[in-house]
Amino acid sequence: MEIDLEKLEQEVRQCSKCNLCKNRTNTVFGDGNKNAEIMFIGEGPGAEEDKEGIPFVGRAGKLMNMAFQGLGINREDVYICNVVKCRPPNNRTPLKEEAVTCLDYLRAQVMEIKPKIIVLLGNTALKNILGDSYGITSTRGKWVEKKDILYMPTFHPAALLRDESKKIDFWNDLEQVVKKYNELK
Ligand code: URA
Ligand code: SF4
Repeated sequence: MEIDLEKLEQEVRQCSKCNLCKNRTNTVFGDGNKNAEIMFIGEGPGAEEDKEGIPFVGRAGKLMNMAFQGLGINREDVYICNVVKCRPPNNRTPLKEEAVTCLDYLRAQVMEIKPKIIVLLGNTALKNILGDSYGITSTRGKWVEKKDILYMPTFHPAALLRDESKKIDFWNDLEQVVKKYNELK
């Protein structure tokens, strides 16, 4: 199983299927436990992630790590990745065609890791994975079940950096995730 993910990561390193390959320093495939029960999906690499090749290592990632610590989630136990594996210029939202092109990799990651729970961080992850009819404001905090996977949409941690008042909802949503995970064990 791991071999497949490693092969895929190598493939992503060489990928030039969309224009985002042009400005990247490193591809950012994913990080964490390949047997994780919980998977977190963000939008795409930022500057720090592009530099290091690891997801969520910049400011948003530090905030997420703090929440993980508070909730007793070990980053090494979960798996973290993004909708697109290459940094969009100036951290803009990935275009639909970029997201759709890259989504094959994310689908393969989900198939290999087989998480029970997927946390969708923000609108880009939500819309590209569950569909454009969903919106984060109305869907966050509510479980969506699809093909034996439980999805919890919540705010992107970068949104919390812009608006502190979102922190409580984010925390409550992750608390629900921990509770559900313990129930499923
Ligand atoms: N924002 C994301 O969506 N993903 C990262 O990896 C970092 C910041
Ligand atoms: Fe390939 Fe995805 Fe990078 Fe586009 S964003 S070049 S599809 S790995």
